[in-house]
Amino acid sequence: MTLGVVGSLKDKPVIVTGGASGIGAATALLAAGAGAPVGVLDINAAGADEVAESCRKQGSSAVGIECDVSSETSVAGAVAHCVETLGVPHGLVAAAGVDAGGLVHQMDEDDWAFVLGVNATGAFLTAKHVTSAMLAEGAGGSIVLVSSAAAFVSFGAGKMGAYAASKGAVSALARAMAVDYGSLRIRVNALVPGATETPLMWSNVPTGSIAEARKEVSREVPLGRLATPEEPAHAALWLLSDDSSYVTGGHLVCDGGMLAKSCVPF
Ligand SMILES: NC(=O)c1ccc[n+]([C@@H]2O[C@H](COP(=O)([O-])OP(=O)(O)OC[C@H]3O[C@@H](n4cnc5c(N)ncnc54)[C@H](O)[C@@H]3O)[C@@H](O)[C@H]2O)c1
Repeated sequence: MTLGVVGSLKDKPVIVTGGASGIGAATALLAAGAGAPVGVLDINAAGADEVAESCRKQGSSAVGIECDVSSETSVAGAVAHCVETLGVPHGLVAAAGVDAGGLVHQMDEDDWAFVLGVNATGAFLTAKHVTSAMLAEGAGGSIVLVSSAAAFVSFGAGKMGAYAASKGAVSALARAMAVDYGSLRIRVNALVPGATETPLMWSNVPTGSIAEARKEVSREVPLGRLATPEEPAHAALWLLSDDSSYVTGGHLVCDGGMLAKSCVPF
């Protein structure tokens, strides 16, 4: 057995979707710090460029690319651009995500399609095109699909049918792909962040109620606070690296103990 530093991402290109903000941005910056050339993909082109610029300041040959993960043309073009400029990806972190809350009986089909389109179809499309590139190279790789605790439980505030269904799909996709591509040395795992301090966390909360909602959530989480975006990003980095070389088809839970807790108080 060889002992030593095996977790380096030096010169191993990594693509991060949703890279302009929150968990995706933190992942892009950590990957750049670990020596990876990073493709920062986001529908927010200016935000993607800004994060790529910060990655370059750390010595990474990062590129920011406008990409709508719910469009196959857009994803295919963005992945091809990454391959051309950075090389064949070693890793993918599919973090692009949206939420549109609402009770199912009142939900417009368009809202359902929007959430499923970005979260579930977006994970499928990015995984599809990155896997194709990895297979053409034959060097294997690591894919991290960002799921949610909502794939397993429904939160107290409710009204999360579309989001929960989309993340259930992401979790199932990670398991199915792990089985299909294990023998080809492509590992596929799901990351399960808990309540994390990002714009998405509060997307269904009126601005004036966010401070109180933050306190309420913190009271319920066993660790007593929300995660910083860097905390799940560190978990994503571990899954990308060879330190997790025997981990595939798994769910890495980074939720401050949320899923471990039942609502029964005694
Ligand atoms: N914040 C949390 O509490 C939490 C908890 C569990 C899971 N997650 C998941 O983590 C991931 C990252 O979310 P975040 O909390 O960092 O949110 P965020 O809002 O900070 O970042 C999401 C990013 O996705 C981008 N995006 C949205 N639609 C897109 C599209 N069609 N194509 C490309 N990019 C698009 C946004 O522009 C944004 O930059 C999401 O998949 C989310 O569901 C977040």
